[in-house]
Amino acid sequence: MSMAALAHEGITVSKLHPHVGAEIIGVDLRHPLDEMSFEIIREAWNQHTVLVLRDQRIDDEQQVEFASRFGTLEETTFTVAADNPYIYKLSNVDDEGNVLPVGSKKRLFLDVNARWHTDSSFRPIPALGSILSARKVPAKEHGDTAFASMRVGWETLPDERKRALEGLVAVHDYSYSVGLFGDKLIPKSEMDSVPPVRHPLVRTHPPTGLGSLFVSGHIERIDGMPVEEGRALVAELIEWCTRPEYVYRHRWRQHDLVMWDNRCALHRATAIPATEPRLMHRATIAGEGPVA
Ligand SMILES: [Fe+2]
Repeated sequence: MSMAALAHEGITVSKLHPHVGAEIIGVDLRHPLDEMSFEIIREAWNQHTVLVLRDQRIDDEQQVEFASRFGTLEETTFTVAADNPYIYKLSNVDDEGNVLPVGSKKRLFLDVNARWHTDSSFRPIPALGSILSARKVPAKEHGDTAFASMRVGWETLPDERKRALEGLVAVHDYSYSVGLFGDKLIPKSEMDSVPPVRHPLVRTHPPTGLGSLFVSGHIERIDGMPVEEGRALVAELIEWCTRPEYVYRHRWRQHDLVMWDNRCALHRATAIPATEPRLMHRATIAGEGPVA
């Protein structure tokens, strides 16, 4: 994409962090994007892994319309469904609008997001990306979301280490990651629909051809390794990718739209607000094929 095109469209892309994240200015997602604007965003996303678009006062329909341009969307499951079948509702309030008390079962479900992970890595075809729209942001309890790049994590590993990791296969299991926070948080029928899956620990990020670690809080073990050893390896690699100087921490504002590439981004919620209501709507773009 040439600079002339960027200037012509009135869209600017500025880095938020040296390793991950950029802000897009000059886009209003309430109106359909022309092809050139869309391509600028897609290109910036491929390059920067996480994009922040401030002040996007969109509804579910507009969010779904934007997200659909990147690919097919995952349909929501019963537990987190909003009114729109393609929107996941991430919220700390119950159906009556009261903030869920600390320690309540529904809150535990949200805690799954506090571990570093990549969305839907427990599916046979993991998600391509997630697009989160901040509908209600607390004034005091910020509940930042932190991001790190698994491409940078891979790139900065010593060559010898890279060779040792290539060819390893990880077992991702949603019942394992959710199970860490308590039994029966999610109905059995829902769990049965996502049996454990295997993905390579090192993958290629298709748009750039760059290597990327594919580690996630959903990994239950590494094939061919004692369970504890495999988990220790995954924990070590996640820690490597998320060294403090490699993490972009996003402080939410009302109407922020933040999108991340699940093929090469790790993310986690730093805290779920304890007293103030928070509401996020997520559209999830399904992957295009098995992990390569
Ligand atoms: Fe997530």
